[in-house]
Amino acid sequence: MPPTTPKKKWLSPKDYAKQQQAQAKPPTNAKFFDYKPRGAMRTLFGMHDREIILDGPAGTGKSRGCLEKVNMVCEKYSGARCCMVRKTRKSLTQSGMVTFEQRVLPHPSAVPFHTGDQEYRYPNSSILAVAGLDDPSKLFSSDWDIIFVQQTEELDEDDWQSMLRGLRNWKLAYQQLIGDCNPGPPNHWIRARAATGALKMLATRHEDNPELYDDVKQEYTERGRQYMSILDGYTGVLYKRLRLGLWVAAEGMVYEDVWDRAKHVIPRFVNAPLDKDQVPKSWPRYWAIDFGYTNPFTWAAYAEDPDGRLYVYKEIYHTKRTVAEHCKTIKEITKDEPAPVAVICDHDAEDRATFTRETGYATKGAWKAVSAGIQAVHDRLKVAGDGKPRLFYLENSVVEIDAALLNAHEPTSSESEYEVYVWDTTNNKKRGEEPVKKYDHGKDRDRYLVTHVDQTWKRNVPLNVMIPIITKSGEQADVPDELVRPSPWRFGH
Ligand SMILES: Nc1ncnc2c1ncn2[C@@H]1O[C@H](COP(=O)(O)OP(=O)(O)OP(=O)(O)O)[C@@H](O)[C@H]1O
Ligand SMILES: [Mg+2]
Repeated sequence: MPPTTPKKKWLSPKDYAKQQQAQAKPPTNAKFFDYKPRGAMRTLFGMHDREIILDGPAGTGKSRGCLEKVNMVCEKYSGARCCMVRKTRKSLTQSGMVTFEQRVLPHPSAVPFHTGDQEYRYPNSSILAVAGLDDPSKLFSSDWDIIFVQQTEELDEDDWQSMLRGLRNWKLAYQQLIGDCNPGPPNHWIRARAATGALKMLATRHEDNPELYDDVKQEYTERGRQYMSILDGYTGVLYKRLRLGLWVAAEGMVYEDVWDRAKHVIPRFVNAPLDKDQVPKSWPRYWAIDFGYTNPFTWAAYAEDPDGRLYVYKEIYHTKRTVAEHCKTIKEITKDEPAPVAVICDHDAEDRATFTRETGYATKGAWKAVSAGIQAVHDRLKVAGDGKPRLFYLENSVVEIDAALLNAHEPTSSESEYEVYVWDTTNNKKRGEEPVKKYDHGKDRDRYLVTHVDQTWKRNVPLNVMIPIITKSGEQADVPDELVRPSPWRFGH
């Protein structure tokens, strides 16, 4: 007689739920992390207000505090629905999700992450979903008890308000939109909203974080001293915001009178994965590179529309990777795209040779005159007669966000350098003379490209005079004549 297959045992939905819960019991050897909230984080646990934002310098324990509260709610109230949100989904992977998985959940954890539904599932059927405002379909199509927004200063007030509508799951007695942020400019909407009373702001301090400050001994821990010395290394506006926690504007921004994120950073043409081409094939492409290893290596693909406007549509901005590694990525993400008309880059001979060997594209040394180049970029950022600037950045162009830069609150793309790219005013130098050589990697790259496309040297250098250009390493750079390449559009080719 053939062996009989055991009969399937059907469970009622209630029994099935019970079985699932039993299987998902926390493992007995689980290691729980001690968490005792201090200062504003402690206040947050007891508050039922609808809108709360924790603000303060870097590392005070804001994100951990918010995530601990969300976790507490999910554990305590069966069926609770919470959501963790950031401006982009990509940046959440490198920040909030790391803190949640490594510091908040016990190890091993009984709260697996469901990739398809993008949510952490608790044994009691509570969930913590993750979403970016760049793809908010799930966020806006569901009901929530608590929404936690990381780095709220990155959002517009409209983004914040739109999330209030979704607070209607009512598995707990109050519904809450909580956020954390580092200080921004003094006229930021967060402060204005707090002034109206609609939003409660809670100030946090480094002393609130037990990892940094021992409140029995009343002194910084070893780790705290090390962390403070890192924060002491910031300069300008980043020092005031991240070390001191002050809401201050950046002083002496190089592109202060023209840069306007709302005008220059625009939605992507097609919200497809970055390995797909996203701009019309007929638009000429250019690439530009500023080499770096400890400092970010930055590469971007630009497209030029028939009116001569330039769009940064793909970008690499990453530290601690070799040129050969970057070339592999570039080849992968541009495989379906038209070849660039020109590749303009920094003068490092070895890096250029590696780039050419790995990608097969010849490169051209950039025209490095700083002031004239800044003027050229300035002219492009200025709004022209048709109401539009002539240099744009498509949102979310960075292929992979550098987690180290993100968590150090340093720029992670060329467009995020604008606020911290400032004039050097040390040693009696005046604004407009020379920029500080910091947070300039994307800025240099964009300047190289713009001066190439606009043939800026024609306006600044008499054509019959060869001016030797000295590179950072002291060698004489390529002379710019090889760069004279008419734009296919403007010259009617
Ligand atoms: N009460 C606490 N107990 C133990 N560790 C803590 C506590 N608060 C914070 N930490 C730890 O300190 C580190 C920094 O905390 P967190 O990332 O929450 O700071 P933050 O204020 O959000 O910083 P940033 O401004 O850079 O975003 C994390 O590793 C976190 O786990
Ligand atoms: Mg944080």
